[in-house]
Amino acid sequence: MSIPGTTGLTAETASAKPTEAATEKADELKTAGLASKALSAKADTPYWMEVGKKGVNRLNLQCEILDPKTWELLETLGLSSESQVLDVGCGNASMARQVAKRYGCQVLGLDAEPKQLELAKTAAIADGVNGFTTFEQCLASEIRERYTEQFDVVMCRLFLCHLDHPERVLAQMIERVKPGGVLICEDLTHGFEREHYTCTPSSEGYEFWLDMAEHYGKIQATDFQIGQKLAAMAEERGLKVITNKPYQSQLTSPRLKAIFRLGMLELREKFIDSGKTTSDRMDRALEEFRELEEGDFTADYFPMIQVVARKPS
Ligand SMILES: C[S@@+](CC[C@H](N)C(=O)[O-])C[C@H]1O[C@@H](n2cnc3c(N)ncnc32)[C@H](O)[C@@H]1O
Repeated sequence: MSIPGTTGLTAETASAKPTEAATEKADELKTAGLASKALSAKADTPYWMEVGKKGVNRLNLQCEILDPKTWELLETLGLSSESQVLDVGCGNASMARQVAKRYGCQVLGLDAEPKQLELAKTAAIADGVNGFTTFEQCLASEIRERYTEQFDVVMCRLFLCHLDHPERVLAQMIERVKPGGVLICEDLTHGFEREHYTCTPSSEGYEFWLDMAEHYGKIQATDFQIGQKLAAMAEERGLKVITNKPYQSQLTSPRLKAIFRLGMLELREKFIDSGKTTSDRMDRALEEFRELEEGDFTADYFPMIQVVARKPS
């Protein structure tokens, strides 16, 4: 498959006029961690999580938590070496690399953030799938202007929740699905409804994590309920929803429960600067996280939804 390697519009080349399109791009840059380059007044709320090497341990762990369920889904699709797959907001491209390895098919991963693409490329070489994978920097709102080919599978995970206009990006993703091909979206659901978050026995560290995650969601305008809307969004655009399935990972091993602590460590200064917590409370929380990690606790990770929708042939 030939995949055009074009250079997209960057913040430097984008118009400085505050048009709707420029503002949308600036918002995207913000969510993609490129806030310093963003042109919008909204750039004062940059993407908080670390990208590239600084965030790689947390991202790898999150993939270890989520990949088994995503993989279950991908395995039902009948992929082959002929399949063509597009992963939007690919991050370290954990799933895309596994698809390339298992099926020997071509996978294109797009991400706005060069540091994430570096992670993906390095990992693809280590996985021996360099020849099957292509990674390109692309803001999701520019998919329409940059790509014309269609794919058997267009997928994204934990991506649409970050966007100010997910429906517009979803429309562009759907355009890139071949007739008869599928769209796969996996994302957050249920917001912070406490009945969806259980830790047994109860843990102060877990409660603190929940409060902070909710705070993060509000400041970043991350849509922790987007999962509930995905199926309708796909149907509105003429796709037939074939899976709309919630799942939630229960974390028991110290290794996986480290995700709570790693996320908090990345965001420590930002939470303190925002006035949500203090340095002393954060220090105490780190001890609580250690206890949560090493003790006999079972803790729910974020509730997720998997949506698979097929485009008519
Ligand atoms: C939470 S990570 C998820 C990565 C991967 N899909 C996974 O499940 O492990 C979200 C990714 O979306 C990328 N991203 C955010 N906004 C974007 C945009 N507007 N266009 C392209 N990529 C974007 C970020 O750089 C980041 O790598």
